[in-house]
Amino acid sequence: MSKLRIIQFSLWTAVAFAIIALSAYLLVASSQRRAPFSAGTPVNIGGAFSLTSHKGNRLSQATLQGKPFAVFFGFTYCPDVCPTTLFELSNLMKKLGPDADRLVPLFITVDPERDTVEALAQYMTSFDPRIIGLTGSPAEIASTLKAYRAYSRKVQTGSDSYTMDHTAIVYLMDQQGRFAGTLDLHEPEEAKLGKLRRLIKGS
Ligand code: NI
Repeated sequence: MSKLRIIQFSLWTAVAFAIIALSAYLLVASSQRRAPFSAGTPVNIGGAFSLTSHKGNRLSQATLQGKPFAVFFGFTYCPDVCPTTLFELSNLMKKLGPDADRLVPLFITVDPERDTVEALAQYMTSFDPRIIGLTGSPAEIASTLKAYRAYSRKVQTGSDSYTMDHTAIVYLMDQQGRFAGTLDLHEPEEAKLGKLRRLIKGS
């Protein structure tokens, strides 16, 4: 090999090593980022909140002590996911029979700007009367979203209109306010009823 060839070869070897090292670094870095949410790690979802119900009462996590509850975030202007979920929750409450009285389903708005107590009171008349609509100041809603690791985002749809992107999970919380799982609306009705019955039985 000529001197030039040796230099070229060395350079390419160095580049190859650099690429391998960078790939390895990125691989490790990305696996470390995912690590806190990997299976088996206890997930800390839920916590203290204090909001105003569609009936005008203050309601906090402490008020619910001893009762299992379900949490769903949404907003009254939602065209599909929210009403569908609330109709399904109403249907499940009906199918649970008297046991349903021991469960407190909460619908927490992510749009406190439009979802006032009055707007929520009107909206909630379409669903099972045991479902409690909750609103609050933007700060109260933000801290509740944070506690549930949920997110919402305002999306402008016109100069004076907007919609909300939001987490659409039904969180199941036990009588101590601990996260007990989620309800998947796409699973069979019997599976959903089974989850709710177990949650109520544990109380
Ligand atoms: Ni929605």
